[in-house]
Amino acid sequence: MHTPKDSRTVMTDLVLPSETNPLNNLFGGELLARMDRAASIAARRHSRRIVVTASVNHVAFNRSIPLGSVVTVEAAVSRAFKTSMEIFIDVWIEDRFSGEKTKANEAIYTFVAVDDTGKPTEVPALIPETALEIERFEAALRRKQLSLVLAGKLKPNQATELKALFVDK
Ligand SMILES: CC(C)(COP(=O)(O)OP(=O)(O)OC[C@H]1O[C@@H](n2cnc3c(N)ncnc32)[C@H](O)[C@@H]1OP(=O)(O)O)[C@@H](O)C(=O)NCCC(=O)NCCS
Repeated sequence: MHTPKDSRTVMTDLVLPSETNPLNNLFGGELLARMDRAASIAARRHSRRIVVTASVNHVAFNRSIPLGSVVTVEAAVSRAFKTSMEIFIDVWIEDRFSGEKTKANEAIYTFVAVDDTGKPTEVPALIPETALEIERFEAALRRKQLSLVLAGKLKPNQATELKALFVDK
């Protein structure tokens, strides 16, 4: 049995001057790369396969992250499908004085496990445990369908979970 905890990956690093924009805040692309790295390790821990980024489904840059901040990127598999995995990433910054952590950003990436030739290969199922893990697990199919519709890989009328959002029960 694989749980989100088994794939949990935590990466903590500083924001250096070369990684900032003209306002001296962390450059968005640098944060995307840090999240991609943590998510990739989480996907690998879950599948024990080579994994590739298939899509970035959601990113919210809610708070800027100033130069010198201590940034923690926490990634875990939120749902495993046949060959793909949804990874939820939470980004925290640490208060310089109190050490208290504040949520700065979050993102959701999709990774696919592949074999040596790059062909998608099956991954183990994921069993969520906590209330938050269950909430993320249950919404993941909806997000997968939305991502596939936007990528032109699924017809909107086949996105059953997505349609259910807009239809009164
Ligand atoms: C990701 C990749 C392996 C998917 O290949 P594909 O031919 O579309 O394979 P499939 O259609 O069988 O899809 C494989 C899985 O990915 C999922 N998937 C594909 N595109 C997706 C998207 N845009 N959003 C969400 N899921 C996606 C499919 O639903 C399927 O999931 P499932 O098996 O769990 O149901 C292929 O597109 C690839 O190698 N891309 C390049 C990856 C890469 O180099 N990333 C780094 C960027 S520089």
